[in-house]
Order: sequence, then C-alpha cells, then structure tokens
Amino acid sequence: MDDMTDSSTSPISSLQDHDLLTTPFGAATPALEIVDDVDLTGKRALVTGGASGIGVETVRALAQAGAAVTIAARKADVAATVAAEVRQSTGNDAVDSVSLELTDRASIDALVAAWEGALDVLVDNAGVMALQDLTLAPDGHEMQFATNHLGHFRLALGLHDALAAAPGGARLVSLSSRAHLASPVIFDDIDFGFRPYTPESAYAQSKTANVLFAVEAARRWADDGIVANAVHPGAIIDTGLARHMDQEKLKSLVDSGPYTFKTTEQGASTSVLLAASPLVDGITGRYFEDCNEAVLVDRAREGTAGGVAPYALDPANAERLWELSLRLIG
Ligand SMILES: NC(=O)c1ccc[n+]([C@@H]2O[C@H](COP(=O)([O-])OP(=O)(O)OC[C@H]3O[C@@H](n4cnc5c(N)ncnc54)[C@H](OP(=O)(O)O)[C@@H]3O)[C@@H](O)[C@H]2O)c1
Repeated sequence: MDDMTDSSTSPISSLQDHDLLTTPFGAATPALEIVDDVDLTGKRALVTGGASGIGVETVRALAQAGAAVTIAARKADVAATVAAEVRQSTGNDAVDSVSLELTDRASIDALVAAWEGALDVLVDNAGVMALQDLTLAPDGHEMQFATNHLGHFRLALGLHDALAAAPGGARLVSLSSRAHLASPVIFDDIDFGFRPYTPESAYAQSKTANVLFAVEAARRWADDGIVANAVHPGAIIDTGLARHMDQEKLKSLVDSGPYTFKTTEQGASTSVLLAASPLVDGITGRYFEDCNEAVLVDRAREGTAGGVAPYALDPANAERLWELSLRLIG
C-alpha cells in the first residue's frame, strides 16, 4: 500500500477481482435461520448497541447458537433488561451487558481494560443517523463520524489483542449502510468546517468509514487470525435509528417511498452471517447486503438498488483513514 497515495491509483476493476460470495440466504431470511446449524459454544461475542433494534436480534441469534454474548450499551438499565429477555428466550445464561458510550474515550477504555480473555466476535453495530444540525462530539469531531467510526475504531484497537487471542480466529463485523453510496470520506473536511452540513452526507461519510475500517483491519490483522467485513443490514423502520430524522420526510418514505422494509429479525441476518456462519469462513475485507456479497457499482444507482462504492473498498482510502483515525483518537 506504500506506493498508493490516492484513490486514483486503484483501478475499479482491481477492487473486486474475485467471484462474489453468495449464500442460500437473502433479504427475507431471519437471523435465527442463519444459525440453525451453527454451534458457537465456547465462543464469546461483543455487540455494541446490542440493547435495541438490529442489535437485539443479533445478540439473540448469537446466544441461540451458544455463544457467550455481551451487550455493550450506554443505557445500562435497558441493556440489563434486554440481556435478561434474551437469556430467557434462548435458554442461554451467558448473556450479559456492559456500559459503553462511544463518544467517551474513558468509557471505551474502561470496557477494554475490564475485558478479560479472548474475544471471538466483535459486532460494531451501534450507530446514530441523520442528526439534523451539525453536532460535535466531546472530542470535537462530527457526531456521526465520532460515534459510528471513531468510537468503534478506538474500541476495536483496544480489543485487538483479545481478538487475536481467539483460538479459532476472530471475526469483526462493521455495520455500514447502503447510505454510504451518498458520500465518500471527505478527508480534508471530516467535520464539515468548510462544506455545508447535511444530515445525509454526514451519515453517509461515517458509513463509508465503516467499510474502509473493515477493509484495512482485514489487511492489517490478517496475520492475527482476524477477519473483518462490512454489512448493510437493509432498511428496517422498527428501530431507534430514525429518531433524529425529519419525521415528515420519514413518513413520506414509509408511505410512498421505494423501500421494502425488513423486520429487525431480518435486519440482523447479514451481521449474523458474517459473525457466525461457516459459509463465510476466511472471507475478509468485503461488503455484504441481504446475506450476499454486494456488487461493486461505479455510480449510485436509481431507487434502492444497492451495491458498494469503489471509494469504500479502495485500499488507499482505507489506509489513509486508518492513519487519520489514529491521529484523531490521539
Ligand atoms: N435501521 C436501518 O434501516 C439501518 C440501515 C442501514 C444501516 N443501519 C445500521 O445498523 C446499526 C443498528 O441500527 P438500528 O437500526 O438497530 O438502530 P438503533 O435501534 O437506534 O440502534 C443503534 C444503537 O446504537 C446505540 N448508540 C448510538 N449512539 C451511541 C453512542 N454514542 N454510544 C453507544 N451506543 C450508541 C444506540 O443506543 P441508544 O439507544 O442509547 O441511543 C442504539 O442502541 C447502525 O449502525 C445503523 O447505522 C441501520
């Protein structure tokens, strides 16, 4: 990567020079079906934002498969209630919760310091979307980038040794979104100091960062037995994510928009596939949607057709983001 200084050195054709990985699963597959024949007994998983929305069903599927699952969430009471409900529904007693506020370095570092032993699965699921006004996190960076990318970057770096210690190799899943197709990472203006802020572009930038993080972690951590992939879970209305959206706009999207919405159980499936399924053993540095690897597209497509943007898979961008993020988390 040393000879790559910008994305223009990575021709599109080289970004996905393999057959796309396909599975028998699709948009309608519920998460529990992914783990039907999967045994995660003896494995440990950590799911950020696991106390709501897609996160809960991700936790449930991993627990159902026998993993010890820790929910990392900032609302301790909600997380404890969800953990109890999942223990009850799965019969797996090894589901607990820890505190995590992704915009608070001390909170991330405390989780890392308290973590003992190996970590087999890390699902970077927490996220915030479409803050209507430019908002800065305590570290001074735009809130969606700070939460969705920088917080998870710090967390994953802190947990690297635990991941590397996983006996059978570890899996990292980074929740991105089809929304990443609306913006690359604008390296020269991450925090919207110069360009006009829009809720969509800030969320999109952060979700592109989520893909680039997986691409670079896959490369840097391959020798440590860690695989990393990014996923778009689908459009799931029944979660907390849309709470900051313009509610009129949201209503018109739901009523007349082009989206086919998934249930939270279906929304968790692509995460669970990458976190747990033998169908993707050894797969790393890729982007999935609807339980299958997404095709590389050279422009944002009409309507809700997905795909992954070249700028999100570009190894030069991934390297650049990693180096920048190291500086930003100081
Ligand atoms: N729903 C969709 O249609 C959709 C589409 C594409 C991608 N995604 C991605 O899927 C992931 C899960 O989203 P969801 O739809 O399940 O929404 P959700 O119910 O709002 O879940 C997001 C979780 O992230 C947590 N979170 C937000 N900011 C945090 C912070 N600073 N520190 C710690 N935790 C924080 C939230 O905790 P609180 O409850 O405490 O705020 C919540 O538990 C997100 O990464 C999202 O970008 C969702």
